[in-house]
Amino acid sequence: MKKEKIKKGSQIRPAKGKLGVLIPGLGGAVSTTFIAGVEAVRKNSASPVGSLTQMGTIRLGKRTEKRIPKIKDFVNLAELNDLTFYGWDIYEDNCYEAALKAGVLERDHIERVRPFLEGIKPQKAIFKREYVRNLEGHYIKSEQDHPELIEALKTDIENFKKENNIDRCVMIWCGSTETYLNTSEVHQTIKKFENGLERNDPNISPSMLYAYAAITSGIPYINGAPNLTVDIPAMVDLANKYGVPIAGKDFKTGQTLMKTIVSPGLKARLLGLSGWYSTNILGNRDGMVLDDPGSFKTKEESKLSVLEYILQPDIYPALYNHFYHKVAINYYPPRGDNKEGWDCIDIFGWLGYPMQIKINFLCRDSILAAPLVLDLVLFADFAQRAGMSGIQEWLSFYFKSPMYAKGLYPEHDLFIQLAKLKNTLRYLMEEEQITHLGIEYYVE
Ligand SMILES: NC(=O)c1ccc[n+]([C@@H]2O[C@H](COP(=O)([O-])OP(=O)(O)OC[C@H]3O[C@@H](n4cnc5c(N)ncnc54)[C@H](O)[C@@H]3O)[C@@H](O)[C@H]2O)c1
Repeated sequence: MKKEKIKKGSQIRPAKGKLGVLIPGLGGAVSTTFIAGVEAVRKNSASPVGSLTQMGTIRLGKRTEKRIPKIKDFVNLAELNDLTFYGWDIYEDNCYEAALKAGVLERDHIERVRPFLEGIKPQKAIFKREYVRNLEGHYIKSEQDHPELIEALKTDIENFKKENNIDRCVMIWCGSTETYLNTSEVHQTIKKFENGLERNDPNISPSMLYAYAAITSGIPYINGAPNLTVDIPAMVDLANKYGVPIAGKDFKTGQTLMKTIVSPGLKARLLGLSGWYSTNILGNRDGMVLDDPGSFKTKEESKLSVLEYILQPDIYPALYNHFYHKVAINYYPPRGDNKEGWDCIDIFGWLGYPMQIKINFLCRDSILAAPLVLDLVLFADFAQRAGMSGIQEWLSFYFKSPMYAKGLYPEHDLFIQLAKLKNTLRYLMEEEQITHLGIEYYVE
């Protein structure tokens, strides 16, 4: 991203016109909970709890100034009424049918927005079974080769934009977790990647085809799953070349959210850790996909790295050098989307005395994920209008495995991530950065 391209304050292009929200995985639990929720909020029949863009505030200037506007009044974000939804899935169900099957929202909630949801129908997906072994869908594009598939997606997007008079778009992957892929040679440069497209290289997964189509159409791409997708040098270069923001990976909800809340606190108090055992039971379609070892490995990598980075064992060897970290996910259909997570945390304090913490989080995964989807769509669109391109580290707040620039390490601490996000908004709106030093209130 070139500094001179970043626009600030009144130079930022206003959010005029409709914003298209393009969703691979349109019929999933997260997508339908997000879409139904936005419509319910637009009709004033529900509250957008959990959304920073809708309910969050930001302090500006000194504490004595008492300037604490809502974020949406401080930065020019797209209005909820300007969002238009579109997407792809491997099942043909419209969003009403899909929301019923997902079983997240109560029937009464879904019925209240039924006609709206019925009007949103997926396009045929790009799907290859070898990347998501536990799903079998037949609503998929007939083209076989990568370049033709990308063209077909771009045509879908163009048609949608024309038919709905769309001004700008953001693509957000809410599709299933793909099988584990290592970064390989074909991912290293744009040229190598484009050569790989020509020969249908198997290291290029369907999610990468969606991302390539989006980025080369000038559309920001956000990755809600732990898939590699845009977390490769070729895609980062491509995003910078096309002036497009990208962000990922894997929405930070449930157990990892708790981990990034609790572990910075333990580290702040210099309490040691000897082990952290995490297990989950989950019975939705995501749980079924993650029952496949390939898809689970992708998720496991994303979940495991968090503690290492937050606790920094290399800097605090006496406290964190040998902790044992285990993460398990068990598919258990009776629970549906209502996941249950257990964390058994073995810590030690003064003179090495052991203590235990247990967290039993009975969460609703998609209820936690939906507001993140909304915020990410609005912030990615804002970033693009502000001339920001490539990795958007300030959006790390939303991800289990945040993307980061070469030579850095990712920032996982939720509170540092929030400070980073708010300071980025202050920077773009030409307000003073807040360091929390506070000495100015006490010195004469
Ligand atoms: N629910 C959460 O809190 C949460 C948190 C973090 C990450 N995620 C990730 O978000 C994604 C969605 O989660 P979910 O609970 O909604 O899962 P889901 O299984 O309900 O939905 C995923 C949808 O993607 C569709 N799909 C699969 N491959 C596709 C493709 N190539 N193109 C288009 N559609 C495709 C599936 O048919 C399904 O409808 C998953 O990758 C999950 O790991 C979810």
